[in-house]
Amino acid sequence: MSRFLLSCLALATLLNAQPHGLGRPATPEEVRAMDITILPDGTGLPAGKGTAVQGEVVFKSRCVVCHNEGGQGRPGAYPALVGGIGSLATAKPKKTVGSYWPYATTVFDHINRAMPFNTPHILPPNDVYAVTAYILFLNGIVQRNEEMNAQTLPKVVMPNRDGFVPDSRPDIKAKR
Ligand code: HEC
Repeated sequence: MSRFLLSCLALATLLNAQPHGLGRPATPEEVRAMDITILPDGTGLPAGKGTAVQGEVVFKSRCVVCHNEGGQGRPGAYPALVGGIGSLATAKPKKTVGSYWPYATTVFDHINRAMPFNTPHILPPNDVYAVTAYILFLNGIVQRNEEMNAQTLPKVVMPNRDGFVPDSRPDIKAKR
């Protein structure tokens, strides 16, 4: 390495060791607001409940504009949220939350953190439970009046629950 490069490296190391005087520590409220991860086993699910009957109302006011009637989606623009169950191993796989996603709790997490797409994370927990129940109902996974809450949602068995396999390449230490 040239002497010039070495001194650049030394200078960069020195500068990095100094505080930059930018930013500030996040407040506990800000950390809590970001701390919304829900694990497959339901860890992190908030209190609350909802059924597909209630979820249909939420869907019609907040989601249908993009995801279309019955969650069919709008090709080329917004993903379908229903259908495709049993299609994954065919020549034309249709991946939806119903056909592809392994955990119902992840559906809740995604809606809770990212939807409605244009104003994310505004739905109260009851609405998220309800609209999750509605999407599961549209996919034939739960009953119309089945209550989704922190206990029942993790017990829902998604059709593709066992469709994911650990990567068998020897240098990847993936385990289930
Ligand atoms: C302004 C348009 C818009 C609205 C309103 C909207 N979505 Fe979405 N949605 C999207 C887009 C774009 C994506 C794909 C990108 C992503 O997943 O973030 C998506 C993805 C999703 C997915 C994941 C689909 C997949 O297979 O990856 C779910 C579930 C979902 N939306 C549910 C909802 C629900 C429930 C509502 C109402 C509370 C809602 N969305 C409202 C635009 C919208």
